[in-house]
This record gives sequence, structure tokens and C-alpha cells, in this order.
Amino acid sequence: MTEKTLFLELWHHANLYIDKAYCPYSNFPVVCALKTESGKIVGSCNIENSSYSLCLCAETNAIMKAISEKKELITDLLVYAPKLDYCPPCGACRQRIAEFSDDNTVIYMCKSNQDYKTVKMKDLLPGQFSLQQDSTTT
Ligand code: THU
Repeated sequence: MTEKTLFLELWHHANLYIDKAYCPYSNFPVVCALKTESGKIVGSCNIENSSYSLCLCAETNAIMKAISEKKELITDLLVYAPKLDYCPPCGACRQRIAEFSDDNTVIYMCKSNQDYKTVKMKDLLPGQFSLQQDSTTT
């Protein structure tokens, strides 16, 4: 499958969640779709709370949905916010994505169904937290 075909597959799936985003406080909908090693695609959206610190990002929700069904590698993850071109995952979501990714997991940040940027996980969160000693910190 080409990168563009994969992008369109994830784009289509993520956009199924645009109307499901619950964001009455920020009015900033975000959707996500991820693909796992076995080929499963899981989508989600941001879900906010009147106690603002409880707001959950679209990426976090998609990861929780997917991993609670099956713990496996995330190979690709798309994030899209209609109000921000190429919306990047926030810092907390980068760490959550990293937990279930490898260096080659591809993150798609989108402007439209024809315009997107990709970044590999190793470049999105270098120096991620790990319980094991990393050679770069010794
Ligand atoms: N948001 C996400 O869903 N993903 C991100 O990576 C950044 C921010 C959501 C959280 C909140 O509901 C809204 O965007 C505004 O911060």
C-alpha cells in the first residue's frame, strides 16, 4: 500500500469522528485515526470536561480504545484539527504514542485530504521517558 493510500484510509476513518468531538469549552475539534501492526484501524476524537484538566485528546482516546482491545504496535497515526493546519500531537500524547510505537511509526499531520506532512516517531519525541537507562543519557 502506498503512503498516499494509507493516508486516505486514515483520513477517511478520522473524519468519521468530526461530529463526535465533544469540545464545548475550547470549540477546537480534533480527530485521530491509527493503524496497528495487524492492520486494525481505530479512530477517535477529543472529549472535554467542565473540569478542564480532565479534557482528553483525540490521540489519547484512540490509543486507549486500540490498546484496551489488543496490545500491539502502532504503525501509523493521523491527527487532524479542522481549525489548525498540520495540528501536531501535544507533548503528553507524544509520550503515549511512543509507548506503543517504534522509531518508524509514521505520524500524519493534515491540512486537507490532499495536503499533509509526515514525521517519524523518532523525530517527534527524541529522548522519550523510559524506565530503562538510555545510552544517550549516560
Ligand atoms: N487536543 C487534542 O485532541 N490533541 C492534541 O494533540 C492537542 C489538543 C485537544 C484537547 C482539547 O480538547 C482541545 O484540543 C484544545 O486544546
